[in-house]
Amino acid sequence: MRIKGHQGALAPLALILVTGLVSPPAHALPELGPKVGREPGKVPVAEGYGGAVATVDLDASRAALKILRQGGNAMDAAVAAAATLGVTEPYSAGLAGGGFIVYYDARRKGVFTIDGRETAPRAMTATSFEGIPFAEAVTSGLSAGVPGSVAQWDLALRRFGTLPLRQALGPAIEVAERGFVVDQTFRDQTADNADRFKDFTSTSRLYLPGGQPPAVGSTFRNPDLAATYRELGRRGPSWLYGGTLGAELVATVKRPPVTTGSSRVVRPGLMELSDLRAYRALERPPTHVSVKGLDVYGMAPPSSGGSTVGEALGILAALGEDGETTGLHRYLEASRLAFADRNAFVGDPAYVDVPLEGLLSEGFAKERACLVGPVAMPNPAAPGSPDGTYEPCSAASPAGASGDLRDKGVTEQAVQEEKPEGPETTHLVVTDRWGDVVAYNITIEQTGGNGIVVPGRGFLLNNQLTDFTFGPAPGDPNLPAPGKRPRSSMAPTIVLKDGRPLLAVGSPGGATIITTVLQILVNRFDRGMALPEALAAPRASQRNAAATQAEPAFIDRYGTALAALGHAFTSTPEIGAATGLEFLGRGRVQAVAEPVRRGGGSALVVSP
Ligand code: GLY
Repeated sequence: MRIKGHQGALAPLALILVTGLVSPPAHALPELGPKVGREPGKVPVAEGYGGAVATVDLDASRAALKILRQGGNAMDAAVAAAATLGVTEPYSAGLAGGGFIVYYDARRKGVFTIDGRETAPRAMTATSFEGIPFAEAVTSGLSAGVPGSVAQWDLALRRFGTLPLRQALGPAIEVAERGFVVDQTFRDQTADNADRFKDFTSTSRLYLPGGQPPAVGSTFRNPDLAATYRELGRRGPSWLYGGTLGAELVATVKRPPVTTGSSRVVRPGLMELSDLRAYRALERPPTHVSVKGLDVYGMAPPSSGGSTVGEALGILAALGEDGETTGLHRYLEASRLAFADRNAFVGDPAYVDVPLEGLLSEGFAKERACLVGPVAMPNPAAPGSPDGTYEPCSAASPAGASGDLRDKGVTEQAVQEEKPEGPETTHLVVTDRWGDVVAYNITIEQTGGNGIVVPGRGFLLNNQLTDFTFGPAPGDPNLPAPGKRPRSSMAPTIVLKDGRPLLAVGSPGGATIITTVLQILVNRFDRGMALPEALAAPRASQRNAAATQAEPAFIDRYGTALAALGHAFTSTPEIGAATGLEFLGRGRVQAVAEPVRRGGGSALVVSP
């Protein structure tokens, strides 16, 4: 990866050299996306000083800003925003979900991560999902993992924050009580889920008032969730992890409140209160790669985000300079190879020996880069051998010489094409006046989780355990096991230059999270785009599949040139809904959300 300043259509009138990079002055910010229909105050790009936030939602961004203005730090603000997203984006985030935080601590001058991934109950085994249709597992008690969010918020605040949980939940309680204005995205997501929401008494009561999705422009209140958050603040995390709230959650998982007359097959879950008691959020070292003077930090296993983004960046760095079409071709090929390795090697490190050092090493990246030729390699690419012994290009397999992967001990699952990914999950970024930075991916897995609200508590359960490999797939690193965390693709990422934060970015979108983050980094640092343009640019996601999933604008613009190099595409309306921020120098920060995707996001700064 080489580092380019902003050029082309976005070339600023005057170039300001900051921390060795070229940044645009405020007046050169691109006008991205429609303003029509946006909530007043909801803008995708904001620049200023003293702290900044970007989320998918104006109420959540405001919650973070409020905490920052009251003197809270970035971690306090991130927890406040996450809890607020549990109100306004309840189909992507919530206290019964999980997530990953990557954090730059300005005082300690280091990057830390907190793993709040859900776990399988102790009664779960490698065969628990075998033979169960995926669609059936999606809406079930069986797919609900032991939630991680509350333990993660608690650990994050105790370790890096300044506020008690009770106070960090304050803005979310306010929004849940006062209500928020229903936008098109919320209505659409409710309507898309209506068929299963109606099958649970608690869910239809909350999200289908009068039997219908709430109307756009109406005010949606969630007093049950306000009361739950208030009680959680008062009693602390043990109320969930072993207390009354936990007991109610377990009862819901084991006996989902199915509507009388519903014909849905709803498999009960295996969770016990002891599983909740045993849950711990974990601090883990971040993943790290150095490419062309940038230090890129990400989330380690059980997420495959950091290892896969990091490996692909290493492959691209090994390939060197390129033009536009070649650059995009290499981006797709690097991603294909990195996904082959992800699928073969990454799982929960407490259960699987993940060769993380090898996957992120320069030697392995160079060996894998040897496989990238002038045209697309045959699908699927075989996984490599990240074993510390690497061959120079002349001795490595030439591109296309994968052979029968099963002969190489690769499991059936690892060579299967990735399933198409949905838009689930959300991501937020926050920085404060001290220069701390949070990149935080939050999820309840599918949009709407497992579709089951805990009666009277105002929140949905996750269906995170569908991120496990269902099997049978002997040797697959991501098979379920008691207490195991399913492999994630979440990739909250922080980039340092010369030891100081330069950029933070992340996205929702299942396994496309990885390619979205990678593509934004390539757009920003290889293709010379400013961060707002890098986020807005059309996306393509190659995950070791015959065809690359791509947005229509990507296919329109690059499809013909890339097809000539052997690439095939399937069209998908939207990939990801990213948020990011960049430090522009002299304390100035640019917060960036999507201009259009998922209805557009919200960027705010403390002092514009
Ligand atoms: N459930 C989305 C992910 O963890 O990647």
